Amino acid sequence: MKISAIIDEREKRVAITPETVKKYREIGLEVALPQDYGVTSLFDDADYEAAGAKIEKTKNIPDADLYVAVKPSLTGKNKFKRGSYLIALLSPFQNKKKLEKLKADGVHLCALEKIPRITRAQSMDVLSSQANISGYRAMLEALHHYDRVVPMMMTAAGTIRPAKVLVIGAGIAGLQAIATAKRLGAIVYAFDVRVAAKEQAESLGAAFIAVESDENGEIVGGYAKEMSDDYKKRQMEKLAQIIAKVDIVITTAQIPGKPAPLLVTKEMVESMPSGAVILDMATETGGNCELSRKDEVLTLGNVTIVGYSDFAARVANDSSQLFARNVFNFVSLMIKNGKIDPTDEIIQAVLI
Ligand code: NAI
Repeated sequence: MKISAIIDEREKRVAITPETVKKYREIGLEVALPQDYGVTSLFDDADYEAAGAKIEKTKNIPDADLYVAVKPSLTGKNKFKRGSYLIALLSPFQNKKKLEKLKADGVHLCALEKIPRITRAQSMDVLSSQANISGYRAMLEALHHYDRVVPMMMTAAGTIRPAKVLVIGAGIAGLQAIATAKRLGAIVYAFDVRVAAKEQAESLGAAFIAVESDENGEIVGGYAKEMSDDYKKRQMEKLAQIIAKVDIVITTAQIPGKPAPLLVTKEMVESMPSGAVILDMATETGGNCELSRKDEVLTLGNVTIVGYSDFAARVANDSSQLFARNVFNFVSLMIKNGKIDPTDEIIQAVLI
């Protein structure tokens, strides 16, 4: 049985690393990779070969039983073997038509974003591993656009006040953004619709912004739901007050299967102090800020609005290591006695 991977020009991360080549070999899989597969994540063909992979002398994908990728753009250029499995972040909501075509061609599709949030599947949870790194990198990107000092500095020439940071959405990415801002000496505030997020944000040193309501935004698995109109109104009033006083806002709010909630209005942006930065981590699903644009950096007066959507890919080597381990853990669950066995409930949950 053979496993292979797709090169995607728009994605720097890879789904197989030299480390996981060895692991696949140990469970009896052959690994065939296109030439220069890992260069964008700082892995050489020689490293893959030393680990036991066969490098094809072409950039086309080799013929295989299992194909893995990070987030393929599914242009139709790659031809998959009938009966094979494609395992990747497939964005089932956005790629509906392309995925239907692949299914009609006899390809089994495993959308890794559908990994259930149960303890047994934690080691396969690519959304968590990538969100964690993204939250870290997003905070650094925001600071890169912030032309002031972050920690308090007491010098002979006077004192510099610390930067104030608000993180909206204290999930996996948000908590890592909070931790990163705290390490750099910022004063950090956090907001989330899930009640459990309060304790988690506070344990990292953030002050939690509470909305007076009995409503808890959490649904099964830890994800958030769309809130009632009354809650939204109270939340927007609260956010307007705090956003006017902070230097940096990082937004991470997502509702699975729906557009991201709009939480930062143009008026809120206009109310921010000169030199402020808004970094919207949700631009891929429409954005949390009215003014942000996917993969663009804009300015409104003296406020910078960052809309990048590729934070994990900006630290591609480390994110690839985590992604590839997640994928290996998933694939190893599929292989029983040298054959593909998709009966496990985790595999069933992920199959489209
Ligand atoms: P996500 O990426 O879907 O959303 C990010 C954050 O935005 C969430 O914390 C969500 O509550 C928040 N949010 C949604 N709407 C909002 C709004 N209107 N205003 C403010 N915030 C809003 O979620 P993520 O980060 O992937 O996971 C959320 C939680 O899921 C984690 O904190 C954890 O508790 C749980 N989880 C459980 C796992 C398990 O194995 N049991 C694995 C991973 C996460």
